[in-house]
Amino acid sequence: MSAPAADLAVGERAAPDLAGRHVLVKVPATSANLGPGFDTLGLALARYDEVEVEALPAGRALEVVVHGVGEGEVPLDESHLVVRAIAHTFARRGLALPPIRLVARNAIPHGRGLGSSGAAIVAGIMAAKGLLEGIEEFDADDLLELATELEGHPDNVAPALFGGLTIAWTTPEGPRHKKLIVHRGVSPLVFVPEHEMSTALARSLQPESVPHEDAVFNVSRSALLVAALVQSPELLLAATEDKLHQHYRAQAMPETDRLIRVLRAAGHPAVVSGAGPSILVLASDPAERADAVRIAEESAETVWQALPLAVDFKGATVTDVEG
Ligand code: HSE
Repeated sequence: MSAPAADLAVGERAAPDLAGRHVLVKVPATSANLGPGFDTLGLALARYDEVEVEALPAGRALEVVVHGVGEGEVPLDESHLVVRAIAHTFARRGLALPPIRLVARNAIPHGRGLGSSGAAIVAGIMAAKGLLEGIEEFDADDLLELATELEGHPDNVAPALFGGLTIAWTTPEGPRHKKLIVHRGVSPLVFVPEHEMSTALARSLQPESVPHEDAVFNVSRSALLVAALVQSPELLLAATEDKLHQHYRAQAMPETDRLIRVLRAAGHPAVVSGAGPSILVLASDPAERADAVRIAEESAETVWQALPLAVDFKGATVTDVEG
């Protein structure tokens, strides 16, 4: 049922009749940057947030329920990030959002550099896409553009949307991506600390400009990293070197910086995951993972949760929930 015309903002179409539509969205965690690929490269990891969204009859109020990570902490109103992303997607198509019931079951840690906010944004966009099936069309570029508008940079949302290893870049027409299949020998391992890190703080530590030779250094390593992840995992240690972001941010996450140094000195391709403070180790086999876990247990002065996570190859999915 449509909302009364008097409630509509200028240029907004009435809410379509979606009553009875009910979708389930599953979105993977991500690790962005991967060392040298600042704001560009990202990897989807097999740990998922799930969100069910049901369109309610007109006149009902918004309902938000959160289980798992964030339960009792995140807002349960219009400011919930998934709700904002659904509303944003409807608004970009000039549609008013009908009342919805949203149930989130979250497994991606918050504030740890594993793409939880990107996953929430992608969940909302995919839920809107599912609710609007047959009414509005969204291609891959549309989805990435919507997600990047909300996240600010495309490197987390591209792998969350499409899975695998993604290269994301911006054009005057909007963000674009290329998805690549990661070599089967790559065995990611994530170390998650108990404390959080704000992406805004991490970004505030970036300088306005960087030395030309550092830019060249990262161009070479990020090109090499794509080859290493797709074809030659034995090159991952050299390919994960970086001079563009990690050392500028190290002062805000000293434990992360220390453990990365120890792991790299032992030959493990360890990098800050996203804006931190988690650490991603791009191990080449399960034995290397086990050695990295041992090193972390023996040398770290803080508690790290070790998560061996496979690469997710599918990205976000949306399916209908039968009545
Ligand atoms: N590329 C982003 C950053 C990822 O490092 O700031 C975190 O959102």
